[in-house]
Amino acid sequence: MKIVVIGANGQLGSDILDTLVAAGHEVVPLNHDRIEMADTGSIRAAIDQAAPGLVVNTAAMHHVEKCEADPEQAYRVNALGPAALAAVCRERGIFLYHISTDYVFDGLKREPYTETDCPAPLNVYANTKLAGEFYISAAWSRHCILRVSGIYGHRPCRAKGGNFVETMLRLAAEREEVRVVDDEFLSPTFTADIAAQVKTMIAAEAEPGLYHVTAAGECSWYEFAREIFSLAGSNVRLSRAAPGEFAVKVKRPKYSVLENARLQEQDLDRMPHWKDGLKRYLESRPTQS
Ligand SMILES: NC(=O)c1ccc[n+]([C@@H]2O[C@H](COP(=O)([O-])OP(=O)(O)OC[C@H]3O[C@@H](n4cnc5c(N)ncnc54)[C@H](OP(=O)(O)O)[C@@H]3O)[C@@H](O)[C@H]2O)c1
Repeated sequence: MKIVVIGANGQLGSDILDTLVAAGHEVVPLNHDRIEMADTGSIRAAIDQAAPGLVVNTAAMHHVEKCEADPEQAYRVNALGPAALAAVCRERGIFLYHISTDYVFDGLKREPYTETDCPAPLNVYANTKLAGEFYISAAWSRHCILRVSGIYGHRPCRAKGGNFVETMLRLAAEREEVRVVDDEFLSPTFTADIAAQVKTMIAAEAEPGLYHVTAAGECSWYEFAREIFSLAGSNVRLSRAAPGEFAVKVKRPKYSVLENARLQEQDLDRMPHWKDGLKRYLESRPTQS
């Protein structure tokens, strides 16, 4: 099938691109120089020119502090852009895959969120991503919205630079002690595993709608760091940061673990445990000596 990947040079988009090409699809990468998600005309022209059977949209304005500083631009990119994309897909009969976020929840549930839990976004980024979800589901029935969480991949996140695993390994090399918060919980997810799950869903023609797509299990950032250092053979001293030690300007959920309930219902959940994903990430690191 001919598939467009929007944000194909991003952390997640690049793995989706590679995986779909390896699966034999004809993939058209649309990077920021070829499509502007804040511009309806640009979206329409780029999709018309590529004329795909399916679109995967990974693009977003997702630097949380920048979204807070410029909510209008965040809304254009994360909400109105996906709305325009869904409208074009509806007109052309194109199936739409769209990447969303665990941040749509406030974290108060303290047990894994399923797709039927009510979102309660805490910040501008999360509000605009949730609005994007609503616009897509209102505009075009043939869509899958995939909420992902705590992602890391071999290509650095373009909006934030690097990823948590690489940051931990760099700090371990530079310092005697690394301090990490132990009161925020997530399911860290290797982007290659999300890409493989997308491939599976496309091949199986997964039912349209909303999906949680995260690695199995959960951990705090501290536990994630401990596993990174253990697998990498680092002897750096790891300590729990004191509450409030790292000042954060923007509210984030303290607990954003998702359950892949809809994938499980359809017997399509291929997401491995987060420790398994981390092990494969470290074994396949391009910079590994
Ligand atoms: N990173 C996380 O931990 C995380 C967690 C949950 C959900 N997500 C979601 O996962 C998705 C992918 O994240 P990622 O880490 O792969 O991001 P990334 O590495 O920053 O890549 C984002 C891609 O989108 C493009 N882009 C940004 N603004 C655009 C615009 N206005 N028009 C067109 N293209 C634009 C970027 O191009 P340029 O860099 O050239 O602008 C880049 O190709 C996003 O939808 C994000 O909301 C991420």
